[in-house]
Amino acid sequence: MPIYFDHNATTPLEPRVLEAMLPYLSGPYGNPSSVHRYGRAARDAVEAARLQVAALVGAQPAEVVWTSGGTESNNLALKGAVAVAKQPSRILYGSTEHPAVLETAESMRQQGWQVETIAIDGQGLVDWPAFEAQLARGPLCVAALMVANNETGVLQDVPRAAALVHAAKALLLADAVQGAGKLPLDFAASGADLMSLSSHKLYGPKGVGALVIRSGVELAPLMHGGGQERGLRGGTENVASIVGFGAAAELAQQELEARNAHLLALRERLVAGLHALPGISIFGEQSPRLSNTVQFGLKGWEGEALLMALDRKGIAVSSGSACSSGKGEPSHVLLGMGLARDVAYGAIRVSLGKDNTAAEVDRFLAVLGELRAAQLAA
Ligand SMILES: Cc1ncc(COP(=O)(O)O)c(C=O)c1O
Repeated sequence: MPIYFDHNATTPLEPRVLEAMLPYLSGPYGNPSSVHRYGRAARDAVEAARLQVAALVGAQPAEVVWTSGGTESNNLALKGAVAVAKQPSRILYGSTEHPAVLETAESMRQQGWQVETIAIDGQGLVDWPAFEAQLARGPLCVAALMVANNETGVLQDVPRAAALVHAAKALLLADAVQGAGKLPLDFAASGADLMSLSSHKLYGPKGVGALVIRSGVELAPLMHGGGQERGLRGGTENVASIVGFGAAAELAQQELEARNAHLLALRERLVAGLHALPGISIFGEQSPRLSNTVQFGLKGWEGEALLMALDRKGIAVSSGSACSSGKGEPSHVLLGMGLARDVAYGAIRVSLGKDNTAAEVDRFLAVLGELRAAQLAA
């Protein structure tokens, strides 16, 4: 049986989520904006899902705006905040952010914005003294810091960042795409003004997500149209997918503790086995991390080559973020943590899922051990 250890790239659709979605693919087909009974049935489903997603992250339902996923949410947050600013100032983002933040921020340089990275230390955490000094250097519009890193799983202290960013009279975007459904999240208490979510990382369908926008925060829309989502995201809602996202969010909330206990036990088993291999380093190991994620390197071995060797044995892992694998460039996350290029080239990410088993971890460790022994003997 093949083994799937790439849940930070995407998760399988949970059967109970599919069951919740099916009626909206084969049955009620109204447009949620229509006032007749067909429309009202669709509207009710969309609003029920809004309650479910809001409950998962401790937000008010009215703060949840549907999008097509994490990428669009990050674009809406940053471009939307910048568009309503009186004049260009600064945009800051952590050097280990996902490309959906990094590339969006960088795209604003041409419009006269000063774009700077927030320094991240060797364990994947914000360098707080450097960040404070950076904030003191001039006006700021928006800063972006992720809740959990997609490669290392390292968790940032979002409330601490929010307090500093608010003192600088700016907004904080917290990309929670990898955190939602894996960690208890409380949008209200986090201090974040904007929070990005994506359904396909928590056993929901692909192509749907949300931006949580603190009430009172002003943003300009990316998508103009029929005034849906309080004018923030025009376009007829993807009803079945939104229903699926809602169902996935509710299940994640109900099962959070059980899933985490299971994942943590698997991760500990995995890490203990990895430590027995010669030349191993686990990235961000000293930091608080997601219970499902381990990124490591084996000295003298390229991540991409190891990924292919594992794939031939039926084991799916990633050599960095899904988006950057195949590019031939080392992970910007590890470079952002100050690791040398040859170390970053060796990165392999294992991201476990709720349905993985101890037997799969053991099989992975056995295969990796054999491959390593063969490589060292060659
Ligand atoms: C941290 C983070 N942000 C944003 C995204 C983009 O989300 P989506 O695939 O829903 O566009 C991802 C996807 O890997 C991610 O890991």
